[in-house]
Amino acid sequence: MSSISFDVEKIRKDFPIFSRELPDGRPLVYLDSGNSSQKPNQVIETMREHLALHYSNVGRAMHVLGAESTDAYEGARDKIAGFVGAPSRDEVIFTKNASEALNLVAYSFGNPANTDPRFTLGPGDEIVISEMEHHSNIVPWQLLVQRTGATLKWFGVTDDGRLDYTPELITERTKIVSIAHQSNVLGTVNPVAEVARRAHEVGALIMLDASQSVPHHPVDVAALDADFVAFTGHKMVGPSGIGVLWARAELLEAMPPFLGGGEMIEAVWMDHSTYAPIPHKFEAGTPPIVEAIGLGAAVDYLTEVGMEAIEAHERTLTAYALEALREVPTLRVIGPETLEGRGGTVSFALEGIHPHDVGQILDDQFGIAVRVGHHCARPLHLRFGIPATTRASFYLYNTTAEIDALVRGLHHVQKVFA
Ligand code: ALA
Repeated sequence: MSSISFDVEKIRKDFPIFSRELPDGRPLVYLDSGNSSQKPNQVIETMREHLALHYSNVGRAMHVLGAESTDAYEGARDKIAGFVGAPSRDEVIFTKNASEALNLVAYSFGNPANTDPRFTLGPGDEIVISEMEHHSNIVPWQLLVQRTGATLKWFGVTDDGRLDYTPELITERTKIVSIAHQSNVLGTVNPVAEVARRAHEVGALIMLDASQSVPHHPVDVAALDADFVAFTGHKMVGPSGIGVLWARAELLEAMPPFLGGGEMIEAVWMDHSTYAPIPHKFEAGTPPIVEAIGLGAAVDYLTEVGMEAIEAHERTLTAYALEALREVPTLRVIGPETLEGRGGTVSFALEGIHPHDVGQILDDQFGIAVRVGHHCARPLHLRFGIPATTRASFYLYNTTAEIDALVRGLHHVQKVFA
């Protein structure tokens, strides 16, 4: 497979889903990890064991199970902080998903409850995003514009699927820049450190949607020089229902709470409340306890395999796929066609064939799971003048044989529509 040291067959044995067959005995070819990844036994077992033997609420139960559950939940926070190089564990906020993390940050701008000048926002102020964003990194900023009268601006995308980075778009009026670290459609990895430098030069803050980078590359939030980073558990071999916002402690301290409720308070009177220190100020109510613990186990698993090794394996798969897909007549890759500055997500269009038909034939006849549609990035598809694409996205458990199966399937699709 990709390299001698990376034993993909051994890794596949950790994922029980690969031991099943699809109806009619078709083998499963799962090329949809950009959508959601599969889960190894180590994560499934950790969650099962916690539910079976240690479960109780966290942070408030004065008994053995309460202590065990709290230790496991807070232990997961430590693991995640270590995994992304967070300078402090208190900078890791558990959310429901990356969307909630992005909304949390957007809510803290132009909010009368936040008088820190870095967060004040009104008419004449600017928010900068890009045309390649997932809807989760577009809509919260549109809502913010509606609330405040600020202006939304965006970087375009070049014909070969790169960020059309023009530093002058970020001006003295910019308060926040929010862009994807890696595009969920194009696979493009953006020059985020350069963008962060420019944002900071004008006194703006920068947020990264790292949902598609943290699962696939070693990411060190401190080295990226970002202010806010969002990612999600279910794309990194962890469960759904748990996401992460990392932010610099002093920013989190300056921000107002997002959701009010139990456990996020210090004291409550009938007419006002004071709030718990970070991270708990941002974790109202009973959190997704077992999901957070499962994400901790996912981080242990990825660390054990090695993020550098995972990145190298995906690079091999991506190089192989880009080459193999060239053999498919009329196939056009939407995104960079070379390995430089891209990850293992390859979207494409087949002339005259709707992606929904492509996806259905691949699934029905070959057991190949890809994602079809606009992948929650409609403006990007409008940019390329197409309604939808077919997307293959790779992860640590994929093989070059599965890419061969995809290419065979695509040749078949073309015969059907010839
Ligand atoms: N954001 C996920 C994807 O790109 C759902 O498929």
